[in-house]
Amino acid sequence: MKLNAGQITRLREVLEGFTADAVLEVLGLPAWRALARNETTPGFLATAGDSKLELLTRLFSLQGTVTSAAARAVFGDVFESLLEARILGLNNDAVSALVEIRPYGDETHDWWVLSDLTPGMNGVPSPVRPDFVLGISEASSSLARLTARQPIRRALDLGTGCGVQALHLSTHAQQVVATDVNDRALMLAAITAELNQVEIDFANGSLYEPVSGEFDLIVTNPPFVVSPVEGDRLVYRETGFAADDIVRHVVTGAADYLANDGLCQILAAWVEPEGQPWDERLAEWIEPTALDAWVIRRESVDLPEYTEMWLADSGLARGPEFTRRYEHWLAWFESQQIASMGFGWINLHKTDREQPSVRIEEHVAPVAEPVGVEFAAWPERLNQLEAPDLLEQHWVVAPDVVEETIARPGASNPNSISLRRTTGLAPTAHLDTITAGFVSACDGDLSGKQILDSIASILGLDAAETNRQHEPIILDLVRDGFIVSR
Ligand SMILES: C[S@@+](CC[C@H](N)C(=O)[O-])C[C@H]1O[C@@H](n2cnc3c(N)ncnc32)[C@H](O)[C@@H]1O
Repeated sequence: MKLNAGQITRLREVLEGFTADAVLEVLGLPAWRALARNETTPGFLATAGDSKLELLTRLFSLQGTVTSAAARAVFGDVFESLLEARILGLNNDAVSALVEIRPYGDETHDWWVLSDLTPGMNGVPSPVRPDFVLGISEASSSLARLTARQPIRRALDLGTGCGVQALHLSTHAQQVVATDVNDRALMLAAITAELNQVEIDFANGSLYEPVSGEFDLIVTNPPFVVSPVEGDRLVYRETGFAADDIVRHVVTGAADYLANDGLCQILAAWVEPEGQPWDERLAEWIEPTALDAWVIRRESVDLPEYTEMWLADSGLARGPEFTRRYEHWLAWFESQQIASMGFGWINLHKTDREQPSVRIEEHVAPVAEPVGVEFAAWPERLNQLEAPDLLEQHWVVAPDVVEETIARPGASNPNSISLRRTTGLAPTAHLDTITAGFVSACDGDLSGKQILDSIASILGLDAAETNRQHEPIILDLVRDGFIVSR
């Protein structure tokens, strides 16, 4: 699949105006939502006209066919090159897309992303090739929202697939390196990059093998399907590594490739073994790295649900083969002493602190997207927690904090007071009366100790004891971003 620079320029000109917003407009919301469920019938009804936008939508979004005359009218002199490059196919007089070109973007960019065609349109199972290049998936979007977006020098997209993370990284990194073990992925991602006039350095190889130097940010959603070896493996979701070893290798290798203060963010799944708490197992991977870590488990999935999910993802319809493999997977999980599978976010931060901060927890509550703002703020919060005397600091309430009180109507005092942050992980903190008074006085004027001393004096409490009791609570408020150093 080769297009020269001139042909890519011509293709870009043809695609001008084929944006995510334009596709939504031409389809209308119901047909657009149907397409998100892989149903194309409403979409075809909405794109029966002969405008360029309708034709491109029918070809690349709905996987329909158009006549060669209609295709020539839109693609002009680049039509033959697209046939040669096997981006388009011609069968009798019907032209179809052989790869997907998906309009995509963020708040300020419109991009096109090349991948293999979405399988299973209209519920028709379609087997995929082992080197299938997955398009933008829920996992891709989840990793993109998880990423800390701040200006950086050098970023690594490990396992780039269709190149979607590399596009996002190019908006805030001076240099982006993208790797994969799948040649087909690298080829499609390279066209994606050139089509969008974004410079990305591509390298073929496993894990950190093809890269050198240090990165300020590493992002990855490695193939994390843990399953018995059977038949062809799909490179986008399965690896030659045992169980969840690919995730372990990403974690244990990160320290060597992170610049000081650099972040590694992994959208991951991990084995939860019988007889060992999941967090203990992850701590065993993390602690020897001497990196700060903040692991958040979003979900723990039982094995039948996990098996059904991935057998369906491989396009297997229900029937005897589905049942045979279902049984085989469950027997294999049992033989491996796997109890469940965890899904979540692993954030690592390179620090020169003697005692890195390792926080491994569950957070299943909804978050305020993009959750990446939380992880962008995390290293600075760790620095604030390092301050020699927390209570001597002057604190202010973070701008995204709201207070929620619950009381019987007409009651003079609330039954409960909580703080909630409205961005990122959107955590909640339940406060006692003293802490509520403390937070309401955090306007930066008085130090934490001065505030606690005056509350103790008003309530007739021992000041030293009040300070001692409330220091850990205040530490948690700093750790969770409710108050920040002035
Ligand atoms: C789940 S896809 C993610 C693609 C892309 N990052 C995204 O966000 O959509 C995983 C990618 O990792 C690649 N991969 C598989 N094994 C790998 C390895 N050992 N080292 C690097 N990449 C690998 C696959 O080819 C695939 O493109």
